[in-house]
Amino acid sequence: MRATSNRLFHTLRSLQHENPLGLPRTGSIPRMQRGLPERRKIKDVAKVIAVSSAKGGVGKSTVADNQLLPLSNYGVKTMSMGYLVGEDAPVVWRGLMVMKALQQLLHEVEWGGLDILVLDLPPGTGDTQLSVTQQIILDGSVIITTPHTLAVKDAIKGINMFKKVNVPLLGLVQNMSLFCCPHCHQDTAVFGSSERVRGLCQDHSIDLLGDIPLHQNVGDDGQRGKPTVVSEPESHRARAFMDIARQVGAKIGL
Ligand SMILES: Nc1ncnc2c1ncn2[C@@H]1O[C@H](COP(=O)(O)OP(=O)(O)OP(=O)(O)O)[C@@H](O)[C@H]1O
Ligand SMILES: [Mg+2]
Repeated sequence: MRATSNRLFHTLRSLQHENPLGLPRTGSIPRMQRGLPERRKIKDVAKVIAVSSAKGGVGKSTVADNQLLPLSNYGVKTMSMGYLVGEDAPVVWRGLMVMKALQQLLHEVEWGGLDILVLDLPPGTGDTQLSVTQQIILDGSVIITTPHTLAVKDAIKGINMFKKVNVPLLGLVQNMSLFCCPHCHQDTAVFGSSERVRGLCQDHSIDLLGDIPLHQNVGDDGQRGKPTVVSEPESHRARAFMDIARQVGAKIGL
């Protein structure tokens, strides 16, 4: 009895590693091979870019949303691990399971034809980020940072990771640099001077694509599910997002 349940446990565990998201199998994905997987194009997707930074909470998702909308002409489809495991569930996976889940998210979603796919990466330069860069052909990456010393240090790690894996760096977005007081109309550099970011761009020959101010509505817009470019298209911040999208689109030939 014990031997049978042990065998069952082993089989279930290996199946879970093979299909951690429990997606219906299409038969199109080979089993996990040894060594590095081959970099492939995502089916039915013309261009793929990654929005990244090694630091958390600097505005990757905010920029990804506001950039994607103009680039996709507002016809947006989304996919997220959160849809499958539940918004509040922690993803307590590592190694093989993360890589396999990514493989499923990258290659088993039926997009039905996309002009552009924007990958909003989690913070860090670990398994997830490396797996993405090693599993698919990326047309480029956009780095997000605030002017804060630690954020800039982490942005350098992100830049070096993309250089190492030969993914073109399309540019850098500086987020939450200036806050304009609605009462006295004075600008404050909340996270310190922009000089660090300008220096970083110069040292690494990266274009500074734009500067998004810190504004209460950016957060509120995102929370309501109506990114700034949709809710306040005439605002200074929406124009900054759209200008970034225009430059990225031109760089990848969209
Ligand atoms: N320019 C901005 N002005 C005001 N709030 C902002 C701005 N950019 C981002 N935020 C807010 O900061 C918080 C973090 O932003 P966001 O979730 O985009 O960061 P992230 O880099 O994707 O974080 P994570 O590393 O957790 O994925 C959010 O609440 C967002 O609304
Ligand atoms: Mg995010």
